[in-house]
Amino acid sequence: MINKQIEAALNKQISAEASASHLYLAMASWADSKGYEGVSNFFYSQSDEERQHMLKLVKYVNERGGHAIVPAVKEPLKIFDCLTHVFQDFLDHEVRVTDYINKLVHICYENRDYTTQNFLQWYVAEQIEEEALARTILDKLKLIGDDKGGLYLFDRDINQLTVTSAAAPDENA
Ligand code: FEO
Repeated sequence: MINKQIEAALNKQISAEASASHLYLAMASWADSKGYEGVSNFFYSQSDEERQHMLKLVKYVNERGGHAIVPAVKEPLKIFDCLTHVFQDFLDHEVRVTDYINKLVHICYENRDYTTQNFLQWYVAEQIEEEALARTILDKLKLIGDDKGGLYLFDRDINQLTVTSAAAPDENA
């Protein structure tokens, strides 16, 4: 049975993942309306991923005898100045989520809930990947600047971008 403090903390995380899913959907919609087809597909898929992160938590809380609460979600930002603005917000949001996850792991440690701590390791690894991806994309955008041809190619190729973090498990090990 899950303890109440951990249940509450996990419910907070459910809400954070739902907000991320909503924000990325708003980014996808903005990009779609501006003709950035690749970027919009990228964020539609990020939004789906965040929903999966949320669902995984919902199922875990209920499985452990708690009650996962489906949260109200605030309306996200809908207008962005440019692609750099979108991706900077994406990175900032992921950095915040990483911080939440780290705090959550710490609460588990304090409560000696090693089962939940172990469950959360998947999120710890996921956050490293997502932050690395957001930073890689932002670096590319800084190189491109206002070059229209560069932005066209960026939009065309963004979904081919994959990032393997140095912290990922070594497949050859
Ligand atoms: Fe589920 Fe990207 O945080």
